[in-house]
Amino acid sequence: MALFSHVVKGLDQRGLAFLHVIEGQTGGTRDLPEGCDLGVLRSLFRGAYIANNGYDRDSAIAAVESGRADLVAFGRAFIANPDLVARLRQDAPLNAPDKTTFYGGGAEGYTDYPALAG
Ligand SMILES: Cc1cc2nc3c(=O)[nH]c(=O)nc-3n(C[C@H](O)[C@H](O)[C@H](O)COP(=O)(O)O)c2cc1C
Repeated sequence: MALFSHVVKGLDQRGLAFLHVIEGQTGGTRDLPEGCDLGVLRSLFRGAYIANNGYDRDSAIAAVESGRADLVAFGRAFIANPDLVARLRQDAPLNAPDKTTFYGGGAEGYTDYPALAG
């Protein structure tokens, strides 16, 4: 908290548009180290707070509606769903991401997930 409070205050002073926070371990657990309080870090930054890591439609809506976040970023869900925004709007099912094609270096897993029919 001491380090990140200092960093977030410094970023705030620079007038950046947003602070994007991977809450927990990237692509892993959302558990935070003991004593870590994201609400405190957020309060130190006057721009938009973008939350990330392990969100789904419901938890993203809850985060924004509660005021805990201004926006939510999706990583894996976006890789697996070329039309993620439309799917979220319609509350349509999502394609599951295939971990074996992450960081693959080719098109497979990046351009071949199906979009919603119609
Ligand atoms: C294949 C893959 C590539 C990624 N590349 C980047 C990257 O270049 N820069 C970055 O900040 N995060 C990168 N991430 C992390 C995501 O942006 C995001 O923080 C992480 O997947 C957690 O969000 P999610 O639960 O919505 O997937 C990558 C994740 C995956 C799965």
